[in-house]
Amino acid sequence: MPTHVAIIMDGNGRWAQNRGKPRHAGHRAGVETVREVMEICGRQGVRILTLFAFSSENWRRPKKEVKMLMELFFTALNREVRRLKKRNVRLRVIGDTSAFSSKLQKLIAESERITRDNDGLLLQIAANYGGRWDMTQAARKLAEQVAAGELQPEKISEETLAARLSFPDVPDPDLFIRTGGEMRISNFLLWQLAYTELWFCDTLWPDFGEKELLQAFADYSRRQRRFGKIAEQVEGEC
Ligand code: IPE
Ligand code: IPE
Ligand code: MG
Repeated sequence: MPTHVAIIMDGNGRWAQNRGKPRHAGHRAGVETVREVMEICGRQGVRILTLFAFSSENWRRPKKEVKMLMELFFTALNREVRRLKKRNVRLRVIGDTSAFSSKLQKLIAESERITRDNDGLLLQIAANYGGRWDMTQAARKLAEQVAAGELQPEKISEETLAARLSFPDVPDPDLFIRTGGEMRISNFLLWQLAYTELWFCDTLWPDFGEKELLQAFADYSRRQRRFGKIAEQVEGEC
């Protein structure tokens, strides 16, 4: 089983359009899938679930859709936070949340605080997140420390940079899933996906469920992760 699963939840708009509904109906249906996937992951022993909810490029969408997504984020979080608390889920939002309304920022901080002591599933919601943003803000932190004389440039290593990314305290994703048929990363976790197993499906996010998720886990369990080594070495390790 993967310890950390990262998902690009794609296909909400097309799901709605296929039904002759407005795009927002797809986003709303997508929230239900989030709840279901979270519960299955909890049951299956996944420790960390990272979901891409809004990318740093999604601001380019029509104003109306962006506004609706912000409202949906607020109402869904507001409604679900007590359930998260009860289900022992710890919530963390990753991304540049300073771009959100102060009302949403407050709710995020409050939700993280309410679930802070939970030790079950860690649910990371990537909102106004971009892999390039993450690496840039990490580089800026390093530069500030160098400028302040607290860090020697020779001391900068993969570890020092990784320690300044959005979630330095959790292992990189083991399994990446993208629904909706596109075969790309769309500026999701760039650094952290270096050795992640990638899994794609055509199912649109609102239609994604237990069957697809268990299929992804089964496929994952058959993969051999070599991290640069050869098969014989890896087989010798188990
Ligand atoms: C993913 O679904 C959700 C967000 C990006 C917020 P889309 O809205 O991208 O759905 P499609 O890809 O247009 O079908
Ligand atoms: C990626 O989906 C972002 C999220 C799911 C939040 P997009 O639908 O925005 O990706 P592109 O634009 O098709 O690459
Ligand atoms: Mg999309």
